[in-house]
Amino acid sequence: MKAYVDENCIGCGLCTSVCPEVFEMDEEQVAQAVGAISEEIEETVKEARDNCPVEAIHTEE
Ligand code: F3S
Repeated sequence: MKAYVDENCIGCGLCTSVCPEVFEMDEEQVAQAVGAISEEIEETVKEARDNCPVEAIHTEE
């Protein structure tokens, strides 16, 4: 699985709390997907995606 954050991110920080293994804030307070997504954390990545208030997180298989 791959994940990316689009330009709609408002920096709410939810994804970095839910899944800090993958999501990190950059210096502009925009989330980036940085870590490798192992099978064990795929569900957590989906949880972050589904709970992002502005639907800025996208995943693909
Ligand atoms: Fe941004 Fe959504 Fe994460 S607003 S900080 S991508 S939960």
